[in-house]
Amino acid sequence: MNYRHAFHAGNFADVLKHVVLALCFEHLKAKPKPFRYIDTHSGIGQYDLTSDEARRSPEFEDGITRVLAADKPDDVAAILKPFLHAVAASNPGEALTAYPGSPQVAESLLRDTDRIQLCELHPADAKTLDQRYAKDRRVKVEARDGYKALSAIVPPVEKRGLVLIDPPFEHRDEMAFMAEAAMNGINRWPTGTFIFWRPLKDLWAQERFDVGLTEWLIAEKQIEPEKILRADLWVRELETEGKLAGAGVVVVNPPYTLEDNLVTLLPWLCEVLKQDDGAGWRVDGGIAEDSLLVDEF
Ligand SMILES: C[S@@+](CC[C@H](N)C(=O)[O-])C[C@H]1O[C@@H](n2cnc3c(N)ncnc32)[C@H](O)[C@@H]1O
Repeated sequence: MNYRHAFHAGNFADVLKHVVLALCFEHLKAKPKPFRYIDTHSGIGQYDLTSDEARRSPEFEDGITRVLAADKPDDVAAILKPFLHAVAASNPGEALTAYPGSPQVAESLLRDTDRIQLCELHPADAKTLDQRYAKDRRVKVEARDGYKALSAIVPPVEKRGLVLIDPPFEHRDEMAFMAEAAMNGINRWPTGTFIFWRPLKDLWAQERFDVGLTEWLIAEKQIEPEKILRADLWVRELETEGKLAGAGVVVVNPPYTLEDNLVTLLPWLCEVLKQDDGAGWRVDGGIAEDSLLVDEF
């Protein structure tokens, strides 16, 4: 386990993932009933942007820094509001010195009655996470494999909620591990909202994950295509090698407002975050065949 999220915190991929997370959170909060947020691969919760890791190749400067500096039309500002609330809560001063990871985005938006369950396998990171939330009785931290934990955790007693699966993709079979966890988790909790993050790198494996999950959900779980949404952003021409150029999420049981929000947001986000003319985005409900990034499997 060599992956350190501190090198990437606040980059374009984090921004899209955390905007989606914050929007799902706000949708759950529209009803008074409590819910549970489950994060299978949590990281350390918040990242110091002044640290050596963050400064080595400051990816956040081409991510959250650009988003904060850009002019925002009213509709875009409204969509970004919960995410930017989380960023502001991590930065009480004027300067941007910290970036909230997924646990911290969640905690900053949490109500007293809701609960957070965090898994992190890296022992030092799990300890950091545990110390961070030691005083918050709404948050439970577990130093364990998030994939294995998921089957035991869902469905939560609240029966409402959200799972984020955000692995490091260090292992060549990570997409297959995530697909297995997806099926186990959704089998046990078909009404939960699930967010799966994946890089746009091995495009064959990524499309296989998206299409395979969609076909399984429709055939085996009788889930309607509109209950599967994906949103991707690439800031440069997509390449299989080198620095990450694109990433995004597949959301199962998304809030009904999410697709429209992302269709409004992503053209703006792409313009703000693009690094060359090969940048692009896609949002599709039901994983449309004509939006695939590879010709065949
Ligand atoms: C991409 S980072 C998570 C970032 C975090 N979700 C965020 O958005 O701020 C992936 C994390 O998963 C941890 N990890 C790797 N394998 C794991 C596993 N099987 N179970 C739980 N955590 C794992 C890594 O140590 C790393 O901290």
